[in-house]
Amino acid sequence: MKNKVAIVTGARRGLGEAICYQLAKDGYDIVVNDMVEKEQVDKVVKHIEENYSTNAIGVMADVSKEEEVLKLLEIVKNRFNHIDVLINNAAIVEDMEIKERSTELFNETIRNNVTSTYLMSKYIGREMFEKKHGKIINISSTNGINAFFPTSIDYDASKAAVISLTHNFALEYAPYVFVNSIAPGWINTEMNKQLPKDLIKEETDKIYLKRFAEVEEIASFVSFMVSDACSYLNGEIIKLDGGY
Ligand SMILES: NC(=O)c1ccc[n+]([C@@H]2O[C@H](COP(=O)([O-])OP(=O)(O)OC[C@H]3O[C@@H](n4cnc5c(N)ncnc54)[C@H](O)[C@@H]3O)[C@@H](O)[C@H]2O)c1
Repeated sequence: MKNKVAIVTGARRGLGEAICYQLAKDGYDIVVNDMVEKEQVDKVVKHIEENYSTNAIGVMADVSKEEEVLKLLEIVKNRFNHIDVLINNAAIVEDMEIKERSTELFNETIRNNVTSTYLMSKYIGREMFEKKHGKIINISSTNGINAFFPTSIDYDASKAAVISLTHNFALEYAPYVFVNSIAPGWINTEMNKQLPKDLIKEETDKIYLKRFAEVEEIASFVSFMVSDACSYLNGEIIKLDGGY
């Protein structure tokens, strides 16, 4: 029997990388996508091939651009000829005061975080719908549910939009393709490494579990959500913030 195939966007590092390893461990062939640092993507591919008995390919593409999404789809179809799972994980964030934020940066965040999820869900989701089978997980954030710091206003708006895309694509592709979202709170990743130490301490104190999540803890939840055991969850947003 052929392995199932999962595409993970923004997967050269951080949560995307951890999701690749978790799904490879689950027996999926993996499409590792990112738009920068090909050598890092190659490393993730190599790690999968060396540590799990599944296949992996790296596809460099800016998934917020239609022509690059279509190229990615072609590559994946030629290599695997079916797609079972799509994880829309790619995103950017750049915190700053609203008065200093340019409209260009605002739009850039929306493009990378929202247009990417829209385009991937539109094209990969359609493939799944036609085959009457598939699962899409959109990585949102608790910032898409509540406002914490207006310094990430564009990121927060983008993550709220990802929640809306989740509801709409779940409706669009029903009853064949499941579309759900995870809204993590703080995760221990590169994205947060440059935050001031006192802010990290204050935020850690607010979390019931008194620590940021590790990427593996989010990845194992993704693993459950795309598994056959998770058979009645659709159009849902799961907050995964350790209590806050
Ligand atoms: N780190 C956290 O605390 C946290 C909390 C909640 C949600 N999240 C979400 O989890 C996901 C992963 O976060 P992370 O901390 O691993 O971030 P990260 O910055 O380490 O990884 C994101 C990756 O996405 C890639 N990317 C961005 N735009 C892209 C595009 N248009 N096409 C292809 N690749 C693109 C980046 O190059 C990067 O490698 C993101 O969606 C993020 O918003 C993170």
